Amino acid sequence: MDNECVIVAKGIKKTYRSGSVQSNVLQGIDMEVMRGECVFLVGPSGSGKTTLLSILGCILSPDSGELQIMDYDVTGLNAKHQARFRREHVGFVFQRFHLFDGLQAWENVRVALDLLGYPARLAKAESHRLLELVGLSDRTEYRSSQLSMGQRQRVALARALAGDPDLILADEPTASLDAETGLNAMKTLNQLAKTLGKTVVVVTHDSRIFGLADRILNLVDGRINESTVEQRQKASNLAGQTVSAADLR
Ligand SMILES: Nc1ncnc2c1ncn2[C@@H]1O[C@H](COP(=O)(O)OP(=O)(O)OP(=O)(O)O)[C@@H](O)[C@H]1O
Ligand SMILES: [Mg+2]
Repeated sequence: MDNECVIVAKGIKKTYRSGSVQSNVLQGIDMEVMRGECVFLVGPSGSGKTTLLSILGCILSPDSGELQIMDYDVTGLNAKHQARFRREHVGFVFQRFHLFDGLQAWENVRVALDLLGYPARLAKAESHRLLELVGLSDRTEYRSSQLSMGQRQRVALARALAGDPDLILADEPTASLDAETGLNAMKTLNQLAKTLGKTVVVVTHDSRIFGLADRILNLVDGRINESTVEQRQKASNLAGQTVSAADLR
């Protein structure tokens, strides 16, 4: 199971057209991500990270190329089946959380379970289990507006885990958090990969946490260059303090 490829992308291209302007954002993306891997996606602003993440999560279709997730050819699915695939296999964590402020933490998680057709009597227990998994069992009844930023991010993560998705995609999940809280959020994502065998892809600019990645994919000029963690570590060591996977233990 450990060597199972969860994402296989070949020659993914995406062009946006706005009036007479055409941007060839993705110009042939080839990548593979294995089960249990925690991979970071980095690159300059506007390089197409969110676009690529959206394609990996079946929110957006590429213009051409092949994308297999969990052995399903998702580029061949119609919109309805893509939506179903997304609900069953993909969990998203957004930078701004997208929680319902008026709902309690467990209710925010339950919303995702409702969409998956979870029976109401099981949904409450499952919401609490997921919040416990992300270390938030003492805040289940708090409304979002009563939670700290880091706690809200954890609720968003618990919600992303609803339905036990194979793939977790996170777009700059630490951007609204202070350094320590952001680091803790990333540790949790890394641990989900390592302990539950989730496949985690994170877009981030935060060089202090590069050591928590198994691999770092660099998106430049519409293509991916892979840098080893060691190379990145050296680069970010020059920039300041870094954290490595060894610090998790
Ligand atoms: N719906 C759209 N229509 C037209 N152009 C778009 C659209 N979405 C994104 N773009 C353009 O595609 C390019 C890549 O955008 P994207 O959001 O993927 O970049 P990013 O790497 O995530 O940037 P950032 O680090 O700033 O979040 C940008 O130049 C953007 O202006
Ligand atoms: Mg982006």
